[in-house]
Amino acid sequence: MTYTFYLLTDPHYLAHESWVEGEAVNGRERGDQIALKASPEIFDTFTDLFLADESADTLLITGDLVNAGSLIDHNSFKAKLDAIKAKGRRVWVTTATHDYSSQGGRDENIFSAVRYTETGSEPVESVYKTDLLPLYYDYGPADADSVHEESGSYSVKLCDGLRLIMINDNGNGRSHCGLFADGVRWLTDEIDKANGAGEKVILAVHHPVIPPWDIYSHMVEFEMYGGYKDLSRLMCEKGVKVVFTGHTHVQNIRKYEDEKGRFFYDVSTTAMGTPEGKMRKITFDADTGDLKVESLGIETIKGLDTGGKSATDYLYGLNFIGLLDNSLPFLKTDWPRFVDGVRGLLPTDKLLSHPKLWKTGLSAVSSLKMSLPAKFGKKYNGLTGKEIKDLKEMPLLPEVIEVVRRVFAGNGPFPPETVQYKVFTGVTKKIDRAQEKLKIKKLAALLPPGQTLTDVLLPFLYNNRTGDDDNITIHI
Ligand SMILES: [Fe+2]
Ligand SMILES: [Fe+2]
Repeated sequence: MTYTFYLLTDPHYLAHESWVEGEAVNGRERGDQIALKASPEIFDTFTDLFLADESADTLLITGDLVNAGSLIDHNSFKAKLDAIKAKGRRVWVTTATHDYSSQGGRDENIFSAVRYTETGSEPVESVYKTDLLPLYYDYGPADADSVHEESGSYSVKLCDGLRLIMINDNGNGRSHCGLFADGVRWLTDEIDKANGAGEKVILAVHHPVIPPWDIYSHMVEFEMYGGYKDLSRLMCEKGVKVVFTGHTHVQNIRKYEDEKGRFFYDVSTTAMGTPEGKMRKITFDADTGDLKVESLGIETIKGLDTGGKSATDYLYGLNFIGLLDNSLPFLKTDWPRFVDGVRGLLPTDKLLSHPKLWKTGLSAVSSLKMSLPAKFGKKYNGLTGKEIKDLKEMPLLPEVIEVVRRVFAGNGPFPPETVQYKVFTGVTKKIDRAQEKLKIKKLAALLPPGQTLTDVLLPFLYNNRTGDDDNITIHI
């Protein structure tokens, strides 16, 4: 017997009623990692994929359902969930920090519910943290065997022999996003009950339990699930083999193993509205105890005029590195167009007030060739003089952009056999060697304990984790 369910995360849903076309919403979107204006259409495209799969009856959504705690957005989003339920499917959600507003300084959360106007934004009716459990009671808790009222976490039976515990991050939205003592007791009890009944347990929670890369928990530990070390211990002790997470917007699968060889996986799913947004398809085989995780992307966006572009190309051009990448061809030929293209990414006022300075500087950077870092790290990269000379033809910037572009998509582009790997690690190895002698405190503080700069770089160059961020089979 097999049982199939789907998971998507971080829709950051922005209803069409929440914005009018203009610089306010476009500026907000350019500064984000994901698409906001197209979030309803992207959500429809993904959920159509789920609905098309007759074998799947449940869709999980693990938080950051809407963009910033607006009731308008929540109501519009819930209407979409209701449409899925009307087709006889189950939808179970948890909420997270983007789902509630701190308007009036109620908590540490930084989000305020707004509607984007032509000239700016105006406040709209907020959803507060205490509103969330009643608001989404019918999307999980109502079907649950047990609900932890304080956090809104709940425990449901997916099928015979398989239990899902949806942990709702409790806390204040900044300095602690996890369960408090009472919630930890409830979670422990639920796992014990399931284990006692011979059920396999899987967890889902918004914030990461294992960081996508060690540098993440080192630099921004507050972004981790509050109490992630305790939860890791608990999962190992109780034999829970997998937790599904979101929040980082990164497609990533990592294994944690304790000193006794007990382990679990954190399957982090990229946000729906990233250029390579994915949804997980998860199939449990009750006979073998295997949990198979696969990933599905979308090719086009249903109901949206993308000018003939694929979903990936369209979404890539909206924000972040894509703005720079798509604007680079105009750097030397059409300065106003370049400036317009990188609005929100680079300081427009400075680009316009000192055009010569910026144009010269940026042109110099864009003219750099891979031979430069290859020469710098020659002693450590294993490249021959001829190979380095050949790299004079290869521009550096596109290779760097390719690494950055893959950060959210997972499965980095440059495994050890590639020339890019050799060039980039040659540079970091040289810096690591210098650091051994110089022991620069500021650099040491940036690195996770016991790690070198090369260690930090490797997971971005290629998948040195489980080998594939999109697929895995875990015996649970
Ligand atoms: Fe998010
Ligand atoms: Fe989040």
